[in-house]
Amino acid sequence: MCGIMGYVGRGNAVPVIIDGLSKLEYRGYDSSGIAVYNGGEIHVNKKKGRLADMVSALGEKWPESNLGIGHTRWATHGVPEDRNAHPHSDCSGRIVLVHNGIIENYAVLRRELILEGHDFVSETDTEVLAHLIEKYYQGSLEQAVRKALSYVQGSFALAVISRDEPDRIIAARRDSPLIIGLNEGEKYVASDIPAVLERTADVYILEDNEFAVITPDAVKITDFSGNPVKKEIFKVPWDPVSAEKAGYDHFMLKEIHEQPEALRKTLRGRIKDGAVDFAELQIDDAIKNMGKIYIVACGTAYHAGLVGRLAIEKLARIPVETDIASEFRYRDVLWAPNDLMIVISQSGETADTLAALREARRNKVKVLAVTNVVGSSVAREADRVIYTHAGPEIAVASTKAYSTQLAVMYLLALYMAQVKGTCSNDEILRLSSELLYMDTIVEQVLKEQEKIKELAWRYREVESTFFLGRGFDYAVAMEGALKLKEISYIHAEAYAAGELKHGPLALIENGVPVLALISQDNLVEKTMSNIKEVKARGAVVIAVCKENLQEACQECDEQVLLPDVNPILAPIAAVVPLQVFAYYMAVFRGADVDKPRNLAKSVTVE
Ligand code: AGP
Repeated sequence: MCGIMGYVGRGNAVPVIIDGLSKLEYRGYDSSGIAVYNGGEIHVNKKKGRLADMVSALGEKWPESNLGIGHTRWATHGVPEDRNAHPHSDCSGRIVLVHNGIIENYAVLRRELILEGHDFVSETDTEVLAHLIEKYYQGSLEQAVRKALSYVQGSFALAVISRDEPDRIIAARRDSPLIIGLNEGEKYVASDIPAVLERTADVYILEDNEFAVITPDAVKITDFSGNPVKKEIFKVPWDPVSAEKAGYDHFMLKEIHEQPEALRKTLRGRIKDGAVDFAELQIDDAIKNMGKIYIVACGTAYHAGLVGRLAIEKLARIPVETDIASEFRYRDVLWAPNDLMIVISQSGETADTLAALREARRNKVKVLAVTNVVGSSVAREADRVIYTHAGPEIAVASTKAYSTQLAVMYLLALYMAQVKGTCSNDEILRLSSELLYMDTIVEQVLKEQEKIKELAWRYREVESTFFLGRGFDYAVAMEGALKLKEISYIHAEAYAAGELKHGPLALIENGVPVLALISQDNLVEKTMSNIKEVKARGAVVIAVCKENLQEACQECDEQVLLPDVNPILAPIAAVVPLQVFAYYMAVFRGADVDKPRNLAKSVTVE
């Protein structure tokens, strides 16, 4: 996720900004930059790569300054290149800004501004803001920013400076975090608390649609219309290290809790008037003539593909195969010209997934990539790409990337159903509305955290577990088992509930915990008969079940309840208790939760 750091005061802005950006490096980025006021001009330096690369390019002659802004960029629009790094300027260099978020209507605004004579140098949505502010600038930066923002759709955390007003930073926030650090005679603006915490623990936390004029001795906060907003100073209780995790003990738990926001960002702008809008993909004709879809990925991404397959077959009535990339690449696939490969990869750099992608392309089959990293190998080599907007995922164990991959799979299934006409408009409207509400559902499920933590404490010493489910629940069981085994080192096996009696039942003995997923209303009776089988052999059954099905789950030893959601979308909710359970099992067993042994965040070797 991008990082913002700004300074206005009586000291030298440059070291403060660089230090602040270094505290935000953990968020992940692909380029960085800085802009400072000196001698009537704003000097800008920005570079693809690491912060250290940008700093070394500053050299000795870089001017001192009392005003500046800096940025670490996580690309969402425009590949990681120097020209796309922030800060961005207007045509004359009078106005310079940094931005986190996504300007949804940037293309329309960009076209209008070009027609009005503005010259663009980058492919970013952010640069549009600089020219829009320039368009409305009539001597007051504050007023120009207010006016420009009234035309902007999307999310932003924004810091703007001007060479004509070198005593202030204008800041604004909508759907992307921004804080203001307070010190005597100097102020800081940043996207996250760690950037300022070594200088001050006194901060203002901007809320959505709040606007600030920041000078060395004062901070004026209003809403976007200019009405004053009363702000309490938040005294940060964390030490700098835990602040990177926003007070959570591990990145994994922080990222589990970031899922509602990640879902909102991934779905934002992709459902309009009750229908999915993927027009930019330009794949409608391909969908109408679609042969078979091959969904290929590794690990958690593969498990997201299992859900995607069920959703696409159910809604779009297109045949889908799923396979793990390391196996797929050695098959003699019976390709047909109208087939499509969908690769899913959080990092976009997984070697096996890339190899499978290249195999499809060698056979002249179109590839659609679903990835979290703009400009990644998978994104560059596929014919089409859909980005998840989960933000950087630091923990090795994937959580928010998985749930946003599910969201994209559902969007794709709905879009294909729309194009093929296999679902009515009412069905599409209902499902897309329910999908938009899943962030709230996840927030509700996260309220069960303490109960799940207590379950983990009780079973922390087990050495073997089973995860059972049918249909969508089986796909989620696969992900739950992977989460538990990869961070707690407990043997965990997922099995199709109906398959147990064909062998694995022999492993069930007294006290073995079985986590049973029960979210498919039409399959609950069958799953319950499997639960009776394992109960009869002494298993302890922990049911993750929808509240409307709990009557049927009375025989289970424990119940973690889910809101009554559409069974098709249930995986987004059902996976959360399994993530939390795995997290606490690992914590109670003293494992290195964020960096489990033997594993890497991105497996770039075969
Ligand atoms: C999941 O928790 C693991 N970190 C791992 O299985 C991961 O999902 C897999 O390596 C695929 O990574 P990718 O999504 O970056 O391709």
